[in-house]
Amino acid sequence: MAAPHNLMQLQAMKEKGEKITCVTAYDASFAAQAVATNVDILLVGDSLGMVVQGQASTLSVTLDDMIYHSKLVRRGAPNTLIIIDLPFMTYATPTATLESAARLMREGLGNIVKVEGGSWLLQSIQMLTERGIPVCGHLGLTPQSVNQLGGYRVQGRSEIDAQRILNDALELEKAGISLLVLECIPSDLAKRITTALKIPTIGIGAGIDCDGQVLVLYDMLGITIGKSPIFSRNFLVGQNSIQSAFQNFVDAVKNKTFPAPEHSFD
Ligand code: KIV
Repeated sequence: MAAPHNLMQLQAMKEKGEKITCVTAYDASFAAQAVATNVDILLVGDSLGMVVQGQASTLSVTLDDMIYHSKLVRRGAPNTLIIIDLPFMTYATPTATLESAARLMREGLGNIVKVEGGSWLLQSIQMLTERGIPVCGHLGLTPQSVNQLGGYRVQGRSEIDAQRILNDALELEKAGISLLVLECIPSDLAKRITTALKIPTIGIGAGIDCDGQVLVLYDMLGITIGKSPIFSRNFLVGQNSIQSAFQNFVDAVKNKTFPAPEHSFD
């Protein structure tokens, strides 16, 4: 199927059980390569702080950084659905959220904005969606809270934490999100959330049962500095071009061979 051009098409993919593919992109050339293989969604992630800027976390990324990179991605992918991350502290209050998100849509030329966190975001999400800005949630390991979480570790392993994440997911859906990224949570929990929600879930280190999968581009190509996360796979291995690495990823997600158990958590 051709890549979806709107949220209704993504929703229909969930209903039909067709897996959704998403990769991060930070510039026009890589975005164009991804589009050539019909990747469904591009995410201009604040992971750019780590993989492009070489920072130790995503916390230093600014709204101007996000706008700069998303403009580049839009040039390489004029018709693709683009999610843009709202960076750290640019959505600390509902008013700030509205102003920051409006800039991402107007200047960054995105279609959807992404926010990390649970129930504290409900008012902001409602405010955005009522004003025509679609929102993607992000639960589980939320990298902007790395200092609070004590590191990049799997979330939701105890029943209390799992229940809190499930409740947050249900509340975010009620507030109006259109998609939900689930990062580094046990596969069983991701399955429970995916079954409980009407909207699609997109997993990263969250097992095979999410409605779609997202990877950080540099992890997917095996060029991340240092150790790649264990939930990732180098899709360039055995391929002779970047484009076939994207195709390899798309095929593996669509035919449900990625993520395998070794890329998932109990
Ligand atoms: O910033 C990012 O790349 C992300 C993905 C890890 C989902 O949020």
